[in-house]
Amino acid sequence: MPANYLVNRKILAETKVEQTEAVSISTGQAVLRVDRFALTANNITYGVAGDMIGYWDFFPAGEGWGRIPVWGIGTVTASGHPDLAVGDRCYGYYPMSSELVVRPEKVNARGFIDASAHRAVLPIVYNQYSLMTAGNGFNPDHDNHYMLYRPLFTTSFVLDDYFADNNFFGAKTMVLGSASSKTAFGLAFMLKRRGYNSVIGLTSSANIAFCKNLGLYDVVLSYDDVEQLPLATSAYVDMSGNGEVLNRVHHHLTDNLVNSCGVGITHHQSGLRPAADSMPGPKPEGFFAPTQIIKRNQELGSGVYQQRIGDATQAFLDKVDMWVTIQERPFEELDDVYHTVLNGASPDRGYVITVAPS
Ligand SMILES: NC(=O)c1ccc[n+]([C@@H]2O[C@H](COP(=O)([O-])OP(=O)(O)OC[C@H]3O[C@@H](n4cnc5c(N)ncnc54)[C@H](OP(=O)(O)O)[C@@H]3O)[C@@H](O)[C@H]2O)c1
Repeated sequence: MPANYLVNRKILAETKVEQTEAVSISTGQAVLRVDRFALTANNITYGVAGDMIGYWDFFPAGEGWGRIPVWGIGTVTASGHPDLAVGDRCYGYYPMSSELVVRPEKVNARGFIDASAHRAVLPIVYNQYSLMTAGNGFNPDHDNHYMLYRPLFTTSFVLDDYFADNNFFGAKTMVLGSASSKTAFGLAFMLKRRGYNSVIGLTSSANIAFCKNLGLYDVVLSYDDVEQLPLATSAYVDMSGNGEVLNRVHHHLTDNLVNSCGVGITHHQSGLRPAADSMPGPKPEGFFAPTQIIKRNQELGSGVYQQRIGDATQAFLDKVDMWVTIQERPFEELDDVYHTVLNGASPDRGYVITVAPS
């Protein structure tokens, strides 16, 4: 029987599993069995920002409940589309469920778009499914790495590219908040790769050792030590969304801070953010990766840009297992893993939920 893992949209700690009837599809639809998916703080952020950014709308659920999107792999088990075959494996955006009904359109050797009516207004990047063929660059030995790292590291890559493209706004030091998160240390990896030589990580005291061990940060400070940041021209790239830390970074660096870039909300339990005009320094801006991706695709051509992302991703994947151990857990243990991630998982773990044998 198909199952959905549901989250209370207002109280993310409240969850339940719902069993549903087997679906029958109409012409043009297809059923994807969800084989496995990754779960990190990024998915929790989809829930935290669900109402603001529309993340609840991808996979509708009953009143008050939501299905948090995850990056995963599924297999076509029924197809009403002539060009999508039963058995095709697809990488993309899934609910924490055992299956997903899609309406494949623009089907070609690269994949397809889910053209289901309720997804039409949502950003297209989340509606694309890639066929996991060798020709598309997928190696079945690396399934877990794709799900866990591709969405996060692409953002790391684009952030690095955005700052370099803007001459770092004049910053001589990059300060990264929630430095132990995969997205943050992916950015530190890229900065190091290009030879940028002053990258400071801010993290919880429990995660200092992890951040130091990465060897990607020149300095690692705990949130308690924000006032020890050097008074150099700096940019703050914040994955934490922690308003208190943001306020202290701005008040400490004042005019030395030349850019304040909000990327994530890992500290979703940390309370309200200060009003932008109550802090010295630049106005914090939310980072929107698609703007930079479109700009660079136009400037470089999408082939060149994709090649650069692909090369950098491979270089990162070649290293990441030294720092993070992937743990596979069955769907029956999802609730335990979800609450672990919701409350702040250890950064040296990367969780993959296995739903069906693949
Ligand atoms: N805007 C975008 O396009 C975009 C794209 C990708 C990711 N992001 C965002 O970047 C952030 C990082 O995502 P990720 O998947 O890379 O994270 P992750 O690897 O799962 O991050 C784990 C780290 O986040 C912090 N953390 C997590 N849960 C916490 C909690 N409940 N309380 C306090 N700290 C907690 C801890 O870091 P510290 O101790 O170091 O704080 C922890 O080590 C997310 O908010 C994500 O949405 C945004």
